[in-house]
Amino acid sequence: MAVSDFDLKNTVSDNRLVGLWRMMTGFRLAYLGALVGVGVAAVLQIGNSLLLRYLVDDVLAQGRFDRTLLLVGLGFVALALGEGASSFLSGKLTAQSAEGIARRLRNYLYDHIQRMSFTYHDHMETGELIQRATSDVDAIRRFLADQAINAGRIALLFVVNFTALSILNVRLALLSIVVVPLIVVVSIFFFKRVTKAYEAYQEQEAKLSTTLQENLTGVRVVKAFARQGYEQEKFEQDNWEQYQRGRRLLTFHSLFWPSSDVLCGFQMLGAFLTGALMAINGTITVGTYLAAARMIIWLIWPMRNLGRLIVQMSTGIVSYNRVIELIKEEREPLDEGTCVPDGNVQGDLVFEDVSFEYENGDSRVLRNISFRCKPGQAVALLGSTGSGKTSLVNLLPRFYEYTSGSLTLDGVELKEYPRGYLRQQIGIVEQEPFLFSRTIRENITYGVGRDVSDAEVEAAAQAAAIHDVITSFPDGYDTLVGERGVTLSGGQKQRVAIARTLLKDPRILILDDATSSVDTETEGLIRQALQYLMQGRTTFIIAHRIQSVMDADLILVLDHGRIVQRGTHEELMAQDGPEGRGMYRRIYDVQARIEDELEQELSDQTAYLWETEEVETEQKGLAYVRV
Ligand SMILES: Nc1ncnc2c1ncn2[C@@H]1O[C@H](COP(=O)(O)OP(=O)(O)O)[C@@H](O)[C@H]1O
Ligand SMILES: [Mg+2]
Repeated sequence: MAVSDFDLKNTVSDNRLVGLWRMMTGFRLAYLGALVGVGVAAVLQIGNSLLLRYLVDDVLAQGRFDRTLLLVGLGFVALALGEGASSFLSGKLTAQSAEGIARRLRNYLYDHIQRMSFTYHDHMETGELIQRATSDVDAIRRFLADQAINAGRIALLFVVNFTALSILNVRLALLSIVVVPLIVVVSIFFFKRVTKAYEAYQEQEAKLSTTLQENLTGVRVVKAFARQGYEQEKFEQDNWEQYQRGRRLLTFHSLFWPSSDVLCGFQMLGAFLTGALMAINGTITVGTYLAAARMIIWLIWPMRNLGRLIVQMSTGIVSYNRVIELIKEEREPLDEGTCVPDGNVQGDLVFEDVSFEYENGDSRVLRNISFRCKPGQAVALLGSTGSGKTSLVNLLPRFYEYTSGSLTLDGVELKEYPRGYLRQQIGIVEQEPFLFSRTIRENITYGVGRDVSDAEVEAAAQAAAIHDVITSFPDGYDTLVGERGVTLSGGQKQRVAIARTLLKDPRILILDDATSSVDTETEGLIRQALQYLMQGRTTFIIAHRIQSVMDADLILVLDHGRIVQRGTHEELMAQDGPEGRGMYRRIYDVQARIEDELEQELSDQTAYLWETEEVETEQKGLAYVRV
């Protein structure tokens, strides 16, 4: 059965056993085969005991040292071979089904997680998701491969041995299981506690892996701020908690063992003694006693292990619940929508009284936004950090849904378009583009959705002013990016992202702070590349510097989610605000002053350096001073 065409959502049931049974679709036969193998092995084991009885009572005691002895010997060999073969077969089938189910689960969860909405990812920690897709799946695998099979084996061994023993001697059989109710009570007692302790343990482990994952992702920040000590302490706190919870969990386990061992020990002693007395009295034969003794061992072994299994199974059940919780989460529908145009959109966007708030946020992030952006026009968004610029552009690909008002694209309400279609139509260049640890070519063609020739890739790279950089690497376009390959600078990554967006050729373009994290030298290159990219597309530019936005057809100044000023550069320069000059004009003045001062300082220092003759090396450094 193909791994991908099975929807695990259909397996969800209020009854865990039913859910698990459904989850095993496609592997049930193999799994049942494994159980049958276990059963056959158990029966053959009984055969072994009975053959032993026959050997003692009917062969040795009668002094029949003829062919029968040879046959009995062969019988033992055959039984051992049969038992071995069925154990092996059962192990093989178990592995096949349990690993298969785990593989399917992992595949499903991976896909499921990447199809969740932004809102979901906002409130779900990465470590928690990783934990569920790895450690919890593994616990389910162990449950199936180990615990459930063993439970079946134990139940079978118990029933078969008990039946066989009853046939030999009912009184002895009943005497051998008096302790069972006690063991069940003790097991249930520990089952409940271990379940709780394991839940707590998994929760904490998820927290720990979140900390670890965040720390690794943010390793540059940690280093830059020299916060290793602080981070270590924070990790140690979480780790200490993990240690405590792990210890608690293991303590329950280790408390359980002696309790059940003491019970089972007394049981075994009692049964052996009774059997021995019966044999001495002549109630049973010596052969029967030997066979019974073996059966008693194989009757008590399951009892002892059943308790352990019940306790262990709690971990599988906790993990199963955690995975099901994730599976139950709704995915973000990509194809839902009534309006799917044949070709591309025009890119005519009209905002009317649009307001928006995050589900977990406590206030409106965007308030009554109204403006129009005609096809091919550029709208610039200017405003302080947190004023809502990113939130506004995130509405366009429907990463989030606006809470009220109307937002139309080519005259159709945005909610009518399927998300998948919108995202094809929109290209985004972010402040810090993410590149995968793959080749540069793969990064450039990522998500284009069609075959692209090398010539096309190179043309895009050329337009994005990154071609020369790429060809300067020994492996050219096949150079690996990231951890195992070259490290690209912020500006180079930015240009790779621009080339990628050029190839995608979207009708609507979003440039979210695309120029703010690069040095002044490459900013010129990037601005040129962006100009080229913007041609003929409806564009939203978010930038901090007036210089980057002054050519836009419409500039919106945002403050606390409101549009406080709107117009072209010239209009805004002339506009007055409540306290004299308008906000735009004030930003402009501040930036112009800083730039003047910096230029002045730059030329002063250069002059000074010329005199001290250190100019060659130092000048290079100065060229990178950011405004
Ligand atoms: N995923 C989110 N969940 C909740 N609140 C958010 C989220 N993203 C941003 N915010 C809040 O929304 C406001 C606007 O943020 P944002 O749109 O990122 O501003 P900008 O891009 O202008 O810096 C901020 O107060 C921010 O804290
Ligand atoms: Mg932002």
